[in-house]
Amino acid sequence: MLKQRVKNKKLTQSSKKWLQRQLNDEYVIQARKKGYRSRASFKIIEIQQKFKIISKNSIVLDLGSSPGGWSQVIAPLCKRVIAVDLLDMQPLTNVDFIKGDFQSSEVLDEIRRYLHTDKVDAIISDMAPNTCGIQKVDHLRILNLLEEVFDFAKKVLAPGASMVTKTFQGNGSDLLLRQLRNSFKTVSNFKPNASRKQSVEIYVVCQGFRNVTA
Ligand SMILES: C[S@@+](CC[C@H](N)C(=O)[O-])C[C@H]1O[C@@H](n2cnc3c(N)ncnc32)[C@H](O)[C@@H]1O
Repeated sequence: MLKQRVKNKKLTQSSKKWLQRQLNDEYVIQARKKGYRSRASFKIIEIQQKFKIISKNSIVLDLGSSPGGWSQVIAPLCKRVIAVDLLDMQPLTNVDFIKGDFQSSEVLDEIRRYLHTDKVDAIISDMAPNTCGIQKVDHLRILNLLEEVFDFAKKVLAPGASMVTKTFQGNGSDLLLRQLRNSFKTVSNFKPNASRKQSVEIYVVCQGFRNVTA
């Protein structure tokens, strides 16, 4: 049931709808109470509770990390987080932030500098491409992004590591799924309760990385 209505006449209908949804969204309210940087924090909390992808010795790479909601709740659970985003991110304890495109060689070099001889135990990615509303095109874009994250992951993941990436419900790519299943022990789809029902987003949770070639 709607608790708060937005009456500001200067706002467009879509802005009013967005604001009304934010004001009445239980996860937004809870995120504010807990001091989380985004409601998305609850999604990674649910993923961690179900799949236990991160342990206290883990090195975690958060791709598409801003404003920092995922890094913020993961950092206290692991050894360290390396976070990457095109946008700025305010500092967090136990998090090294790199500003840039995760696909650029400069960012990869910087990640490797932070890692020294270590490898990454978990990649968590909440990135999504810009959508255009044409379902087929949007699907291709997100599959393409997933493939790029997977290619990137092969360069830095430790044996046994995990990878969490966002995708859209619907027709996936059989080839990509086969490749993921070849490289990981288990591959599961998961829709956290914190993910809006009307959103097509789901997360692919891959565990037990077994391909150590770059
Ligand atoms: C949904 S937001 C992430 C929210 C974050 N998980 C949180 O809880 O605060 C997705 C982020 O991915 C970033 N992003 C998209 N493409 C990227 C790329 N190629 N390299 C780095 N960051 C990217 C965007 O700038 C955006 O901040």
